[in-house]
Amino acid sequence: MNKTIVSLLLALGLAGAAHAAGDPAAGQGKAVVCGACHGVDGNSALANFPKLAGQGERYLLKQMQDIKSGARPVVEMTGMLEPLSEQDMADVAAYFASQKIGVGTADAALVERGQALFRGGKLAEGMPACTGCHAPDGSGIATAGYPHLGGQHAQYVAKQLTAFREGERSNDGDAMIMRDIAAKLSNKDIEALSSYVQGLH
Ligand code: HEC
Ligand code: HEC
Repeated sequence: MNKTIVSLLLALGLAGAAHAAGDPAAGQGKAVVCGACHGVDGNSALANFPKLAGQGERYLLKQMQDIKSGARPVVEMTGMLEPLSEQDMADVAAYFASQKIGVGTADAALVERGQALFRGGKLAEGMPACTGCHAPDGSGIATAGYPHLGGQHAQYVAKQLTAFREGERSNDGDAMIMRDIAAKLSNKDIEALSSYVQGLH
């Protein structure tokens, strides 16, 4: 093959090793180190560590790539993904995706507001409902990379929505989907949504 064509194909990611799908069995052993914070099966005990169990494989892999590259800074994980190859990360993503998330409970006093926002958005301000991308049961759309939210720790969810709003988390792409949405959420909205999501299944 002509050298120019080879480099073109490489640039497009079409040549070289095909992007193999993750292998959950191979990922289990590689995920042991993650268990200290995220739980051995991806159900973290502490609310500041996100649950990874049952999360979409595509979303998990993207976050690992973003954390590794620094596009999403996570100081607690500094250097931790360095020894992992793309294949290792795909395997770990497949392992956590194959686990079952344990669902929490919502604060009864916040359910009404949380549910109204989650299902209805804020029409007057042009904010879409969360259900369009994260599904009515919070399971997301795994193939599209839209994360599973149902059962996630409220404390973690609130931190992410605040971080999107303040621009501290900016790995949601050029379309700025989540930064635009979070910009329309008050602290009270975030509190209600996060509580609602924690009990959603
Ligand atoms: C010392 C604790 C710690 C360890 C060990 C750790 N993480 Fe994390 N991880 C975190 C914290 C804290 C966050 C969330 C930071 C934030 O609030 O944005 C996170 C976030 C993530 C996320 C994003 C989750 C989401 O819902 O967006 C993924 C994926 C992840 N970690 C994967 C891993 C993998 C894979 C390993 C093992 C190789 C690992 N982590 C080891 C602390 C840890
Ligand atoms: C148009 C699609 C879309 C809509 C509508 C949407 N989201 Fe998202 N959301 C996304 C995408 C895509 C991501 C992942 C961004 C990335 O790759 O880091 C995301 C990420 C998140 C995260 C971070 C998850 C994690 O594990 O760190 C939270 C929390 C979240 N969304 C909550 C909401 C809430 C609450 C609403 C409604 C108020 C909402 N989203 C509406 C597409 C959407």
